[in-house]
Amino acid sequence: MTLRIIDNVHDMTELADSWSFSPDVALVPTMGFLHEGHLSLVREASAHAQKVVVSIFVNPLQFGPAEDFDKYPRNLQCDAELLAGAGADLVFAPEASDMTPEDMVFQVDPGPMGAILCGQYRPGHFAGVSTIVTKLFNVVRPGLAVFGWKDAQQFLILQKMVKELNMPLKLIGLDTAREADGLAMSSRNSYLNEQQRKAVPAIYAALQSAANAYRNGEESTANLLQRLVKHLKAEPLLSVQYAEAVSLDKLEPVDTVERGNTLIAVAVFAGETRLIDNIRL
Ligand code: PAF
Repeated sequence: MTLRIIDNVHDMTELADSWSFSPDVALVPTMGFLHEGHLSLVREASAHAQKVVVSIFVNPLQFGPAEDFDKYPRNLQCDAELLAGAGADLVFAPEASDMTPEDMVFQVDPGPMGAILCGQYRPGHFAGVSTIVTKLFNVVRPGLAVFGWKDAQQFLILQKMVKELNMPLKLIGLDTAREADGLAMSSRNSYLNEQQRKAVPAIYAALQSAANAYRNGEESTANLLQRLVKHLKAEPLLSVQYAEAVSLDKLEPVDTVERGNTLIAVAVFAGETRLIDNIRL
C-alpha cells in the first residue's frame, strides 16, 4: 500500500467529502517527529477503521511566546517512512498559513479544564489544542480519532469537547507507550542529554511509588503526592513544576482517591526540557 501525502486544506477537504465522518476513517493527530508511541496510536486506529489518516502539524496556537515552537523537532520524510511501515494510508501535513492564517480570530475555549495542571503554566495552550483539533476534525472528518493518555489533560478536554459540542465522532485513548526503563515516550525526549536521559526514568518510578502506596491502603492524595515529590527531589537533575491529583471526569483537585476517577499528574524539568507524565488510580 502506498502512503499518500496531502499538504493543503483544500485537497484534504475535497477528499474528506467522500467519507464525511464515516466510522471507517480514523485520524491520529500528531505534531510529527514520530516515535513508537505515535506508531502504536496508528496501529490502534488501523484496528478500528479501514482508512487511517495521520495529521502532522506543529500547531503554533498551542505554544506560548517563550516556548519551543521554533526548535520543536521536525522530519517529515522520516515520519512518512515510519507511517508507511505502520499501516497509515494518508498523511495530512498542511502549512501553518493554511491552518492558522494570521487574521484568524476564533478559538475553542475549554474553560476551567484548561486552566488547571499544565494550563496554569501554559496559558492558552489547551485553547490552542482544542481549536486546532476542531479544525482537524472539520477538515479530515474522521469517524474516530486516537490520542495517547500521556497527554491525559489534553485527552480529557477533547473528550469533553466532542461530547459538549456534539461532534459526530468517537475518541479512543491509548495507554502511554514507555521505554524499557519506564520513561514515557515523547518527541521532546530528543532534547535530553546523556545525563538527563539517565535521570528521567525517576519520573515514572515516582508515580509508581505513589501507585504502590495507594495499593497498600493510602488514599490521601496529599500523602501520595508528598511521597511522589520526595522521590522526584531525590534526583538532583530534575525539578518539579507540579504534582497534583484531580478527578478524571472534571479535572478538579481531589483530597481522597476515588477509585477509577483519579489522575495523578506531574510536570518535571530536566534542564530546559519539560516532561509530563501521569497515572490513573
Ligand atoms: O498531542 C499532540 O501532539 C498535539 O497536542 C495535537 C493533539 C496534535 C494538537 O496539536
